[in-house]
Amino acid sequence: MSNVTPLKWVNGQLLILDQRLLPGKVKWITARNVEKVAVAIEELAVRGAPAIGIAAGYGVAIAAGAKRSSHDSVRAAIERLRITRPTGFNLFWALKRMGDCLDGSSKFSATRLVKEAKAIHKEDADACLQMGKFGAELIADGESVLTYCNTGALATGGIGTALGVIRTGYKAKKVRGVYACETRPVGQGARLTVWECVQEKIPVTLICDNMVAALMSARKVQRVFVGADRITRNGDTSNKIGTCGVAMLAHQFGIPFHVVAPSSTFDPQLASGAEIKIEERAANEILRATAGLEKLAGVKVWNPAFDVTPAKYITSIITERGVHRPPYGFAK
Ligand code: MRU
Repeated sequence: MSNVTPLKWVNGQLLILDQRLLPGKVKWITARNVEKVAVAIEELAVRGAPAIGIAAGYGVAIAAGAKRSSHDSVRAAIERLRITRPTGFNLFWALKRMGDCLDGSSKFSATRLVKEAKAIHKEDADACLQMGKFGAELIADGESVLTYCNTGALATGGIGTALGVIRTGYKAKKVRGVYACETRPVGQGARLTVWECVQEKIPVTLICDNMVAALMSARKVQRVFVGADRITRNGDTSNKIGTCGVAMLAHQFGIPFHVVAPSSTFDPQLASGAEIKIEERAANEILRATAGLEKLAGVKVWNPAFDVTPAKYITSIITERGVHRPPYGFAK
């Protein structure tokens, strides 16, 4: 297991590690109502597709345990959480599971909803271990790997997806070290992946996002592992903005590019990545990175939080069930 965890369920309350403050400060938010959970998701205090799904599950459990809760109030909680972030599929998958516990009747058991939220959490932890095992088998001795965004314990219920593979590979003495992209504009790589690697004592080298071509050209990495927010039936994958560029460069340089994600990230309704709704976030996420820009009037900003990597650039997709290789054709 990992010493790092983004979420703790304690006495009917959800403790959320505020990832906006890392690596500078370790501070926990206590969520006693669904609104607090929803805002924590919207404002990226908790982020990463699997962790968002887990937090949402607990958010519904909190609503169910509230005084004077009713079938309607729990349904309203589910609807509130549904509109927090549009791209990551794990959120919708978890809310469906929680909603299914209401089973259409007017009675519900708050205990059952807590049990379901805990099950979602535990299953994700187990899936991380399986993905770590399958992914590490692909790594040859002494490889250096590249990753993007944060896909570690902070983003999941366990050791992580892509970073979980890297961690497992490092423990098996196969991975020499990891290069982490900064991942602008929010800096999940610089702030979170680097922090996690330091906690886990995995040798990490930070690079700016625009250094990937130079890194690959210099043959400093032998493999890329990234996570996913939603995977469609043809294998197209949405992940943090910038991932597609990394995949295309890896293709160009002949470097294997692996996506690591649990089954809860797969959207059986969507045939291809063109159908994925991409979240656009506030301009100030970009503007505040440059001193003085926020005060400069009239600066237009486009800030998509994710992009779609076409399946043709993906060497394999690793899930808790095994390693999928092209041509991809996931079930409806
Ligand atoms: O905006 P974020 O930080 O929630 O985006 C996270 C990512 O894109 C991750 O790569 C993805 O959710 C996989 S996390 C295991």
